[in-house]
Amino acid sequence: VSDLSYALWEGYWHLAGHLSELARPRDFVRLSVGTADIVLFNDGNEIVAFDNLCPHRGTRIFDESHGNKPFVCRYHGWSYSKGKIYAGNKDQFSHCDLDQAKLGTLSLERVGDFLFVAVAPKQSVKSQLGELFDIVTAIAQSISNRHDFDSYQYDCYWPIAVENALEPYHVPLIHANSLDQLDLAEGVTHKHDANSIWLTEVGNKSTSRRLEKLSKMFDMKYKHPGYMNIYLFPFSMISSTFGISYSVQNFLPDFVGDKSNFASRLYTSKTLPKLKPHIFQEFFDSTAAINRQIFKEDSEICARVPKISWSIEDPKFYAKSEERIVFFREACRQAEAQKSNTP
Ligand code: FES
Ligand SMILES: [Fe+2]
Repeated sequence: VSDLSYALWEGYWHLAGHLSELARPRDFVRLSVGTADIVLFNDGNEIVAFDNLCPHRGTRIFDESHGNKPFVCRYHGWSYSKGKIYAGNKDQFSHCDLDQAKLGTLSLERVGDFLFVAVAPKQSVKSQLGELFDIVTAIAQSISNRHDFDSYQYDCYWPIAVENALEPYHVPLIHANSLDQLDLAEGVTHKHDANSIWLTEVGNKSTSRRLEKLSKMFDMKYKHPGYMNIYLFPFSMISSTFGISYSVQNFLPDFVGDKSNFASRLYTSKTLPKLKPHIFQEFFDSTAAINRQIFKEDSEICARVPKISWSIEDPKFYAKSEERIVFFREACRQAEAQKSNTP
């Protein structure tokens, strides 16, 4: 099955960031996948996605999950800027063709202002997103900036983390003091090929009224009046309450072990032009804190589900609110079949 993880990593587009995070030269964002990384970097001319390895002898360049730093290798000082690699002591390389030194880049596509990366995609990002393409585009255009970035490993196999994020059946027990306070209704689920979306209401009336009112201060291209959760097969989720902010999560596989590389970002939406964004600072700080708590709660329960508990076949018993797990496993089986069809 780790073969499948690798095929999914290679063959699909992955939501890796938002343009606003890379606005200035030298801005970078780093995500871990397997034993390697994906780095998005503003090189002064354009955004590049690369494997975080130095083209000389493969030293990792960036350590933090995000920041602003020049691209300089600590080992022998090679650097990179505006599409060009600069080697130290160039005369020592007269026997080599230094023009052949290149970053290990990935393909990069924009969907609105979202940035998707891929190694060897089987289709265009537009056809992969299918009917969700327009919603994802509108969400990307509604986003102002990143407010929080959190990343760590879940101590579980990645499909277990994804399935946990796909079902609200666990909310009352696992998130009693966090997400369950919203009292989310049953809502509706739509399947779009391998992707899916869950739209529901916030059952807690006073919270719902308060958020509805607050949402009117934002300039939104897309809004669901309640809670929504989009799953972009295979590794990404986008969730939001009234479109005031968007939480983007990645559960990237660890090809050698059975951990998931979790990354979560909170993006805030654009406020109406006449409003100063900083008046919402406290509100977004508390949203970020509660999101962190929710994902901690998820990671703790996921760590109690060993890899052998997962199967690519349909679960024997599943609640209606666990239906998206069935969609997910079906998509995995399809990807598995495609993998054996391609040599
Ligand atoms: S490995 Fe980076 S400069 Fe040598
Ligand atoms: Fe959860």
